[in-house]
Amino acid sequence: MSGEFGLAEPDDVPGDEWEELDVSDTDADKIARRQDREFDEFRQRVKDADQLKVEGSVFDEATLAAVYKLVQDGHIDAFGGPISTGKEAHVFEALAPEAEVAVKIYRINATDFSQMREYLEGDPRFDGIGSDKKAVVLAWTRKEFANLSRARKAGVRVPETIAVERNVLVMELVGQADDRARRLAEVTVENPQTAYEVVREYMRRLYSAGLIHGDLSEYNLIIHEGELYVIDLGQAVTVHHPNARSFLERDCRNVASFFSRQGLPVDPDDLIDFVTTPDPDPSSDLSESPPADPPDPAESSDRSDV
Ligand SMILES: Nc1ncnc2c1ncn2[C@@H]1O[C@H](COP(=O)(O)OP(=O)(O)O)[C@@H](O)[C@H]1O
Ligand SMILES: [Mg+2]
Repeated sequence: MSGEFGLAEPDDVPGDEWEELDVSDTDADKIARRQDREFDEFRQRVKDADQLKVEGSVFDEATLAAVYKLVQDGHIDAFGGPISTGKEAHVFEALAPEAEVAVKIYRINATDFSQMREYLEGDPRFDGIGSDKKAVVLAWTRKEFANLSRARKAGVRVPETIAVERNVLVMELVGQADDRARRLAEVTVENPQTAYEVVREYMRRLYSAGLIHGDLSEYNLIIHEGELYVIDLGQAVTVHHPNARSFLERDCRNVASFFSRQGLPVDPDDLIDFVTTPDPDPSSDLSESPPADPPDPAESSDRSDV
């Protein structure tokens, strides 16, 4: 892995980046490749739908209806293969009219529902939802959508959100189906110092926007063509959450531990100080283009998101 891990510019447009970076193919190559793939995937579509049905416990009728609605609304044309099968969600690649997308489908009967509790209790965005599993998962899905949008506005490089329907979230696919983005845990980091500086700056920007990731580690940082992306923001909480501090401490420990293993002398307490201290000069070195007027965490509203 190489590259300089350039920081995302707030509100940047990933489509432009792809075009700039993808210099190896002629336009005709790209179109031909895409047409082949479209045709193959189109033929697969009915088959895939049946396959989703076979996994009945995961993809109940209502989930299939949500996927169908997203197809009707023009956000998905055809399903590709699975990217990841987790306890709480499955991620698929899919074809949309303009690009490939990632489709994250939360399981309503999540086996790990109890683990969601520590994030939900005390989050005013979930007030009144109670313990109705379905309601929680639907709100959780919308929360991930809202958190991704908020992070992106704050200048954190995250997948662009496209649509949300029930327990199904459609977002930009980082990388391509035939050239997948990799988790930081899966690659050899050739320039850990720069990677670390980018990660801690993203953590600080997230915090300035009033959010704490809550599950940050080398498994929720993905890399493609030298750019780092933060993913998996479903559990992210606001800085007002009663467990906010302990989530932040855990995130910092995970990140410090990963980069220590890469040979960097990273102290988790220094990282917490960095993240919680507003950037005194947002226009300096790494911060090519700082977020405009990052909100004061103390003032950010918890209730506007879901
Ligand atoms: N937008 C995306 N683009 C590319 N790959 C993705 C994207 N979102 C998720 N993935 C892949 O799917 C995996 C699981 O996604 P994640 O959001 O972390 O769900 P989980 O809650 O199951 O951990 C990630 O580790 C990554 O490999
Ligand atoms: Mg994850």
